[in-house]
Amino acid sequence: MKNPLLLLGALLSAFTFHSAQATPSSQSDSNNLHAGKQLMDQARCMRCHSVMSFHAGYTKMESLGNLKKQVKLCDSNLKVGWFDDEVDTVVDYLNQTYYHFK
Ligand code: HEC
Repeated sequence: MKNPLLLLGALLSAFTFHSAQATPSSQSDSNNLHAGKQLMDQARCMRCHSVMSFHAGYTKMESLGNLKKQVKLCDSNLKVGWFDDEVDTVVDYLNQTYYHFK
């Protein structure tokens, strides 16, 4: 029980560090993209997903709303415990890198 909490603490402080430097409202902010990728690395999303599973040709997602819902689903299924702004950071990262929803 102790370890996951420690891990979460490390994750959160890492994120706070990044968001202090990034401007969350700026869509093309590369710091923010980096933070999104890092959050996914730390949560180990890619043990189930590959780049292919986020590729336009494979997706079941039809909108940004869909995408956000699914990120929240995976987050809660895995008990990652991301806050809303972290979910948004990851959604931004995925959208700008793979999905390109408007
Ligand atoms: C235990 C395996 C597993 C892990 C780990 C996992 N996911 Fe998923 N994810 C799935 C499955 C299964 C689906 C497909 C759900 C469906 O089709 O209804 C999915 C679908 C998705 C999709 C939609 C893919 C598409 O375009 O159709 C996104 C985005 C996503 N996950 C994000 C994440 C994120 C972010 C994480 C890390 C917090 C994560 N996933 C970790 C199993 C996983």
